[in-house]
Amino acid sequence: MKLITIAIDGHSSCGKSTMAKDLAKEIGYIYIDTGAMYRAVTLFALQNGLITDEGIINEEGLRQRMSDIMITFQLNEETGRPDTYLNGVCVEREIRTMEVSKHVSPIATLGFVREAMVDLQRLMGEAKGVIMDGRDIGTVVFPDAELKVFVTASADVRAKRRYDELTAKGEKCDYDEIRANVIERDRIDSTRAISPLRQADDAIVLDNSNMTIPEQKAWLLEQYRRVAGRE
Ligand code: DC
Repeated sequence: MKLITIAIDGHSSCGKSTMAKDLAKEIGYIYIDTGAMYRAVTLFALQNGLITDEGIINEEGLRQRMSDIMITFQLNEETGRPDTYLNGVCVEREIRTMEVSKHVSPIATLGFVREAMVDLQRLMGEAKGVIMDGRDIGTVVFPDAELKVFVTASADVRAKRRYDELTAKGEKCDYDEIRANVIERDRIDSTRAISPLRQADDAIVLDNSNMTIPEQKAWLLEQYRRVAGRE
């Protein structure tokens, strides 16, 4: 099989990262969760007082501090999946809270944040053999990716999955608030001026509303074999 680049884009909370992580493990590819990178920038902004209680971002302040943000991934031996590190500290749990989810879309609309993240993503994926999931991977980051998948599911299904995930971690949450957040993030992600969420012309669409995780996994593996096995 030849080494390829796999781009997985789609709406928030539709299970992109679960299927991408599973495939990476199975075929020995590097998995990069680009949403985690925008979340880490958001966490940095929150920790450094660059977002007010009203949700207003101090853009100039953040722009000046961008060079102080170092994002890396390290394989967690226990889970077999990569954890996100912000300036050397594992923030895998902190970046998944509702607090970060609430502020991440506006942060991801900022041009200077996107430029820095896209540069880093291209560097991380330079050698191929990567699976990257996000919103603009097949359209902007790696427009030449050999395999592009666009994943979607209904807002209700996605909110339920997020609710179950947070509840399982012991975080107290409200289903209606999560559903509203999912819809609001879709709106901001799809309508922003720079690199809006959209399906690449050559992406394969997967609506996984009624699919189990093993079914998605099998589907993606089949797509990979079809593309990477091609001469
Ligand atoms: O996939 P996620 O929910 O963890 O992503 C968090 C936010 O980051 C989401 O609101 C959209 C944004 N994002 C983006 O703009 N571009 C990417 N490549 C990945 C995520």
